[in-house]
Amino acid sequence: MARRNRKSAASSKAKSKAPAAQPAKPKGSGGAKVIAFANQKGGVAKTTTALNLAVAFKESGHRVLAVDMDPQGNLTMSQGVDPDKVEKSLFDVLVHRMPLREVIVEREIDVAVASIDLAGAEIAMSAQIGRERALQKAIDAERPNYDFVCIDTPPSLGLLTVNALTAADKVIVPVQCEYLSMRGLVQLQNTLQMIRENLNPGVEIEGILPTMLDSRTVHAKEAVEILEENFGELVFQSRIRKAIKFAEAPVRGTSVLKYDPDGNAAKYYRDLADEVLSHG
Ligand SMILES: Nc1ncnc2c1ncn2[C@@H]1O[C@H](COP(=O)(O)OP(=O)(O)O)[C@@H](O)[C@H]1O
Ligand SMILES: [Mg+2]
Repeated sequence: MARRNRKSAASSKAKSKAPAAQPAKPKGSGGAKVIAFANQKGGVAKTTTALNLAVAFKESGHRVLAVDMDPQGNLTMSQGVDPDKVEKSLFDVLVHRMPLREVIVEREIDVAVASIDLAGAEIAMSAQIGRERALQKAIDAERPNYDFVCIDTPPSLGLLTVNALTAADKVIVPVQCEYLSMRGLVQLQNTLQMIRENLNPGVEIEGILPTMLDSRTVHAKEAVEILEENFGELVFQSRIRKAIKFAEAPVRGTSVLKYDPDGNAAKYYRDLADEVLSHG
């Protein structure tokens, strides 16, 4: 399938692709594709998408690592691990430069776990040289071992998210259509542009994902239309509709794909996985 045509104001820079300067990391070298899930707004399904897309990649035969960069540890909890009880976490990776391997636990997928003290990582790193690249360095060592690395981020554009965007090849932006915030998306794009200019020239938006769609409401349809008008082909074809299973699965410590393998909720993320895989 042909690469989607990136048009509209949102991606006028996309044509120039990676600048001629040396790329921040080897592309196409056979290592993992690193995807960050970002939106500074909370409750838009970042964590749900990072986890369930990661599990869908695994189902389709890929080696997958999920990285929980949110101090709230929701992704870690969603795989049945208590962030209050883990001994080693991403805090140690970021602040003490512990190898990522040491904080990976094997669940449905491999998970590099968060702990509550990750909240203090931004301050602990603030005086360190290379603080924006700590995660990138840690992930680079694991790239040969995986096909996909999915990074969940906190609801802010602080140093933890900057680390995720610096480590990423691609960014998926979940957007809850009920409370569509164009200003928020423009702010995220500005941050990404700064990351490109200073830290990671090759990072691109893989797609904007409409989530928690209630297709019965006119408002939700309008919101998706507005997204498409503003961001064109950057908006995924896949849609994540509202389903109660999404709230139930994390309580059981599983993905929706495991909790209700034959249900619609699982299908939404399998379809999204197919769409991402078709991008190459
Ligand atoms: N498609 C959906 N339908 C219904 N509830 C959802 C859906 N996706 C996520 N949720 C629920 O919405 C809440 C916020 O989702 P979450 O993934 O934690 O967002 P974020 O990580 O962006 O803060 C969670 O309780 C989650 O279970
Ligand atoms: Mg979250």
